[in-house]
Amino acid sequence: MDTLSNIRFVTLPPAEPDAGQIRRAEAREIEPAVRLILASPSAPADPQQVRDLVRLAHLPHSPSLGLMVGCGIDGLVSAVLPVVSPGRTMLLFVPAYYPTAEHQQITGRLVAEICRRAADADVHLAQALLDPSDSQLAALFSQWGFSRLAELIYLQRYFGRLPEDPPLPPPYRWQTYSPQSHDLFARTIERTYQLSLDCPALNGMRSMEDIVAGHKAVGEFDPSLWFLLCRGESPLGVLILSPVQHRDSLELVYLGLVPEARGRGLGDRMMRHAAYLAGRSRCRLTLAVDASNRPALRLYWRHGMQSIVRRVAMLRDLRALADRASVLSTGRPQPP
Ligand SMILES: CC(C)(COP(=O)(O)OP(=O)(O)OC[C@H]1O[C@@H](n2cnc3c(N)ncnc32)[C@H](O)[C@@H]1OP(=O)(O)O)[C@@H](O)C(=O)NCCC(=O)NCCS
Repeated sequence: MDTLSNIRFVTLPPAEPDAGQIRRAEAREIEPAVRLILASPSAPADPQQVRDLVRLAHLPHSPSLGLMVGCGIDGLVSAVLPVVSPGRTMLLFVPAYYPTAEHQQITGRLVAEICRRAADADVHLAQALLDPSDSQLAALFSQWGFSRLAELIYLQRYFGRLPEDPPLPPPYRWQTYSPQSHDLFARTIERTYQLSLDCPALNGMRSMEDIVAGHKAVGEFDPSLWFLLCRGESPLGVLILSPVQHRDSLELVYLGLVPEARGRGLGDRMMRHAAYLAGRSRCRLTLAVDASNRPALRLYWRHGMQSIVRRVAMLRDLRALADRASVLSTGRPQPP
């Protein structure tokens, strides 16, 4: 059986003694390393999760950034997988189970080394998503330089019957994304962040171009599923959807209204459109929302979205690391 004890003791013999070493995983180590990340004291790793993480570990990475492992005298002890997104952000997958202090210490070194390499590769933000009940792991991430960003609630609803979505009454209209409307989308998304309760600590930490690039990287980018809700020529809101997981789900990547358009039922109008598009494809609508964003949660609950899981998002700004590296190498900060 695929238990943690198997994972801990049936480890690969290292090619040469490398206890204490941290390095990129060799191809043959990818699956055992992924099993270390997914290990728990009570249950075997879920085979589907193993396959998903192995697939992510095989995605093309830069030569310096990818799955890294840490070794003890018996072989692999820990592993950390960074997944870099085009929006200069990186999601870290780390083990949730630490049987000894050595496991914690080696994982901390892996996280530090990956953050340093990512900063050198111009990645700005590192993020990890933790089980909210795992306060020990949250404390470790704090030691490793991360701060709590938000608690996220993941919601979903399956639309078996096609929901109604009557055309917008003039002068309201939908405008979809095109290279010509790119700047209008970016400017409108930025306006929807004003006084927003959606992960407000992120505001100002990313450029609009990185934010849009990050949204495009979720699932399959389809410009016909990116909408501006306009009144005449004035954009009032943004709705961004993306097919994910082999088109089984339609992810609501972002929904937001500019401040003067809030509290008028327009959020409902955008949700109906999203529900209609999910129903048309007979797939689930999924999304993640900041648990403190009560207006957004109320909107999603009104539309029958149901909570599936919660995660605590931990964040580290890596730009300070890159700045420090340039000061160390030249003795003074480099111009941007
Ligand atoms: C969440 C959001 C889409 C809700 O849409 P909506 O059409 O305004 O929803 P409702 O009509 O149900 O109004 C929600 C109520 O919350 C209030 N509200 C919304 N955002 C608020 C905020 N940031 N601070 C305080 N109150 C807020 C509205 O004024 C309204 O109050 P009222 O009923 O007393 O007039 C909209 O508030 C918004 O775009 N917020 C910023 C971006 C955001 O949070 N997006 C969600 C990403 S998951």
